[in-house]
Amino acid sequence: MHIPVLLKKSIKSLKIKKNGIYIDTTFGFGGHSKEILKKINNYGKLYSIDRDPFSIKIAKKIKDKRFKIIHGLFSNIKKYCKKYNILKKVNGIIMDLGMSSMQLNNKNRGFSYKKNGPLDMRMNQKNGISASEWLIKTKEKKLSYILKKYGEERYHKKIAFNIIKNMKKKPIKKTCQLSKIILNSTPYYKISSAKKTFQAIRIKINNELKELKKFLKKVLNVLAPKGRLSIISFHSLEDRIVKKFMFNYSRKFPNLPSSIPLTEKELKKINQKKKKIKIFKKIIPDKKEILKNYRSRSAILRTLKLK
Ligand SMILES: C[S@@+](CC[C@H](N)C(=O)[O-])C[C@H]1O[C@@H](n2cnc3c(N)ncnc32)[C@H](O)[C@@H]1O
Repeated sequence: MHIPVLLKKSIKSLKIKKNGIYIDTTFGFGGHSKEILKKINNYGKLYSIDRDPFSIKIAKKIKDKRFKIIHGLFSNIKKYCKKYNILKKVNGIIMDLGMSSMQLNNKNRGFSYKKNGPLDMRMNQKNGISASEWLIKTKEKKLSYILKKYGEERYHKKIAFNIIKNMKKKPIKKTCQLSKIILNSTPYYKISSAKKTFQAIRIKINNELKELKKFLKKVLNVLAPKGRLSIISFHSLEDRIVKKFMFNYSRKFPNLPSSIPLTEKELKKINQKKKKIKIFKKIIPDKKEILKNYRSRSAILRTLKLK
């Protein structure tokens, strides 16, 4: 089971029009999608996307003519909108980033540092290479860099060194093999020490931050006037990207390097071409939600509205 995070608040933030067109970019177990379907009428439409074939299987059980499931990446949102003839007609988009509990709790997917299983970590096992294969072809310096950048791991050098050293003896094929090496590389010997490294490798394997950036580049051209975008992120790396994007578009003048000499007139011209948005105050879960669903503790919801 997957308990959707900030479900009511995120759906409320979309200010759903009964006959509107909506996109759920991260279907997962369908928590947000089902809530949207409750709010739209017979003229409304919901398109949901997920890269994980398992989510698609679940979505296909929803028999509702207002609903369409798309198997693919949310970075392709513009392509899908063109295909379904909804470009610039979308009234609201919801994005609930990260892994679903189904992915994390299934030991065969290899996302969990606590459960032993094949070291895979792909959200779509039919695409790309597994974490185990990636480790084999990655050099120590690059691995250390990824752990630092995507995991903000303090002991990135030591962990990378020990992973490579161990792999010279035998390949790391199982999650618990990797967790053990990480535990032996940090001073605490606590299982939670493996969390950051697992996060970093998962982000790398699934290109998660690149996917988000590619999506953000396209999303404002997909929304209808006054359309809304709500994004729930779970760690500072994602939230930083979302926040920077929203702040940049809500500013009077774009975020240009100070070294570019431009007159006010030139700046105004650039600004006229820029999409105008309004941003809303960020929302975080209350204590009650965190107690009910511990996974929600780090969630941040940010919403923008096209002017
Ligand atoms: C946190 S879960 C969403 C849970 C969902 N909101 C619910 O209530 O059940 C995130 C989902 O996004 C999917 N996902 C992650 N990155 C994606 C991408 N780039 N394109 C499409 N789906 C993606 C994952 O496969 C996962 O199922």
